Amino acid sequence: TLVYGAVGRGTKLLSWMRPGESISLSDPLGRGYRLLDVPSAMLVGGGIGVPPLLETAKRLREMGVSVTAVLGFRDQAFLEQEFRSAGAGVYLATDSGAAGFHGTVVDLIRSEGLTAESYYACGPRPMLCALTSLCRERGQDAQVSLEERMGCGYGACVGCVCKIRGENSVNKEALDGTEGGYVRKKVCKDGPVFWGSEVIWNA
Ligand code: FES
Repeated sequence: TLVYGAVGRGTKLLSWMRPGESISLSDPLGRGYRLLDVPSAMLVGGGIGVPPLLETAKRLREMGVSVTAVLGFRDQAFLEQEFRSAGAGVYLATDSGAAGFHGTVVDLIRSEGLTAESYYACGPRPMLCALTSLCRERGQDAQVSLEERMGCGYGACVGCVCKIRGENSVNKEALDGTEGGYVRKKVCKDGPVFWGSEVIWNA
């Protein structure tokens, strides 16, 4: 199953395809989540960031990890039942209040006092940033899947870079000349998953 939103020219063209037509895909690209063998995991998804977490939920459940999915939507929830069928406990939040908690997923996590030993997130950048802050307060970290506009998907066009704290970077001084330093990483090839603590969010 391929889940996408028709938000630009490419995805609009996709939406015009009919059953029986074929298309070539390059997939998977980049580096995904590192599945941690710890007792519990929280999957935090927002909007079109929700679908990739379904397979993550299934894999974690196969490992015997207890999974809580906290899923946020603007108005209308989707894939809720699929997450439940995968064995995850599900909490919903919507911006409009149409379903579940009225507010953000991070506010929902706070208000319900939800905790886990590991966190996996995919969704809008403000959501990922807020979750990273929450994890920092708790002395934890989250694996976050970033999104950038991508030209090639192979690391060739350098169109998808983000700033990552680069303790071990050999060229960090040349890159920014500031204390602490950062490296530019390609979301398509080096990511899309990074530790929330290593992302420079206000870049
Ligand atoms: Fe071209 Fe990432 S999309 S380098």
